[in-house]
Amino acid sequence: MSNAIRAIAAACAIAAAGWGAGAPAQGYPSRTVTLVVPFAAGGPTDVVARTLGAAMTRTMGQTVVIENKLGAGGTIAANYVAKAQPDGYTIFIHHNGMATATGLYRKLPFNPLADFEYIGQVADVPMTLLAKKDLPPDNLRELIAYVRLNKERINLANAGLGAVSHLCGMLFQQAVGVELTTIPFSGTAPAMTALLGGQVDMLCDQTTQTIPQIKAQKVKFYGVTTLQRIQALPDAPTLDEQGLKDFEVVVWHGVYAPKGTPREALDKLNAALRASLKDPDVAAKFAELGAQIVPESKQTPAGLRDWLKSEIDKWQPVIRKAGVYAD
Ligand code: MLT
Repeated sequence: MSNAIRAIAAACAIAAAGWGAGAPAQGYPSRTVTLVVPFAAGGPTDVVARTLGAAMTRTMGQTVVIENKLGAGGTIAANYVAKAQPDGYTIFIHHNGMATATGLYRKLPFNPLADFEYIGQVADVPMTLLAKKDLPPDNLRELIAYVRLNKERINLANAGLGAVSHLCGMLFQQAVGVELTTIPFSGTAPAMTALLGGQVDMLCDQTTQTIPQIKAQKVKFYGVTTLQRIQALPDAPTLDEQGLKDFEVVVWHGVYAPKGTPREALDKLNAALRASLKDPDVAAKFAELGAQIVPESKQTPAGLRDWLKSEIDKWQPVIRKAGVYAD
């Protein structure tokens, strides 16, 4: 075989395997798909990703592996995926941070509305306000009084600037009129470990991680951040009903791919996502952890993109006006 023919044969083999940037994903997926998670393993985003990834593995007949890429409130992972090969083998899950980062970071190295393809939304997750077990207050009223009195001594953990635990903590401080010391972690999994160990005082975190700790009474629990009570914790009061009027934080999750990912791959990923959200094991696990699967209209590329745009339009001016920056 001449060198030229060898080169053509090699190029054809690469194209058939779908390895080139933006190459048609023929026979997609033919190998492992990596789902990038922007926070620490074992935390709320990771729990949603692993539940979804296991179900997508069953549906697609190829393994979906999780890669945790940490730092800067999820923006390091988002930038990594924005610049990854658009071949369908690197996808990304992120929450509200994909929208709020556009206000919080003045020099964001990626554009959430230009550098991605959209696969669909997954689930909405409430948050819970917690403290370490031996913090004296037993209810929200006592907590507010205690925090106002001891503001120099109380600290509040979060998963970095732009994480939802950071945003929820900021809302709490604003609502109560105090400024607390905040302690950033690479995700709320290590933040929860510190809370359980008594090294930090307070944490606002998602039910996907906190329900087991609340049920085991390993933490003090002061209420949920939805306006209505939630099925997974039916006896738990909302922060709103206890007097923090309109205190609402709901964490939404979307799945993305790099811009230019072939249509065939995007269609298969979306079909796998929708099938996974109908999987009874996924429904049971999400229900137990307080995660509400989104309606079918949101489990679509347009459902995610339109929502992301509306969230950017909502939060970017608010954050810029407040002059709160992460960089
Ligand atoms: C996590 O997975 O650690 C959390 O979603 C981080 C956060 O609070 O945003």
